[in-house]
Amino acid sequence: MNDHSKIEDMLKGRLFGVNVHVFGTLASTNDTAVALGRDAAPEGTLVVADRQTQGKGRLGRRWDSRPGLGLWFSVILRPAMNARHASALSMVGALGVASALRGDYNLPAEVKWPNDVMVGQRKICGVLSEGVITGDAVDFAVLGVGLNVLHGEADFPEDLRGKATSVRLETGKAVARLEALASVAAALESRYLLFKARGFAGVRPALLEVSALVGKPVVVTSGSVRVEGTAAGIDDEGALVLRTAGGDRRVWAGEVEGLALDEHRRRR
Ligand code: BTN
Repeated sequence: MNDHSKIEDMLKGRLFGVNVHVFGTLASTNDTAVALGRDAAPEGTLVVADRQTQGKGRLGRRWDSRPGLGLWFSVILRPAMNARHASALSMVGALGVASALRGDYNLPAEVKWPNDVMVGQRKICGVLSEGVITGDAVDFAVLGVGLNVLHGEADFPEDLRGKATSVRLETGKAVARLEALASVAAALESRYLLFKARGFAGVRPALLEVSALVGKPVVVTSGSVRVEGTAAGIDDEGALVLRTAGGDRRVWAGEVEGLALDEHRRRR
């Protein structure tokens, strides 16, 4: 049995897996999924690659996607939603991955707003959603997931060592990537269906429960804007609420860094 039929078998009866495309090498599973989406591929279509030559991360960064180690995949979503709220999809994705890691691998995975999945201080997974927009509406979206599964310390590029981790490093087990795909796809699907049925309010409590930031002092940078405060929560629309010296502020997008507590106190 090849990977393609194994994956179809594992995901039989599920929305995520209705249509499965498995590749050895792709530039980016997100790009291929966008092309399939433009060609009317149905919601739930899954694109998986062993290796990406131009894996994309947030903010135009590269995503290191070497073969044999990680789970690199994208799924096509067709939610009826306003483009203004599209960023919620990547949070739903991060929640799905964190839930799978907690439920199936007993890892204390947390979501670092907006869409990183962390174990302790190290990133184990990144999520990148891309929307194809017509007017104000999301025509369709692609949710890309990069989960480090089998990496040992030396498998990460030098600049990521100490900052990135994998399922293997955290559990001590060489979990099969197909097994991880089945676990993550099932959890993603259930969080996405909840989101579709109840909107962001449906997933917000679970996101708050696994938040790596809430209650902590942080700095958020977005372009040249830098806001410092305590992460107080995530609002109904997915914005991060920061308690700052000048009152509460909502942040819609940005890079978050933790601030050591003593530094926070000194600056107040
Ligand atoms: C990030 O944390 O910066 C997001 C990383 C997202 C990486 C995944 S790997 C599968 C999919 N295809 C891509 O080109 N990127 C996403």
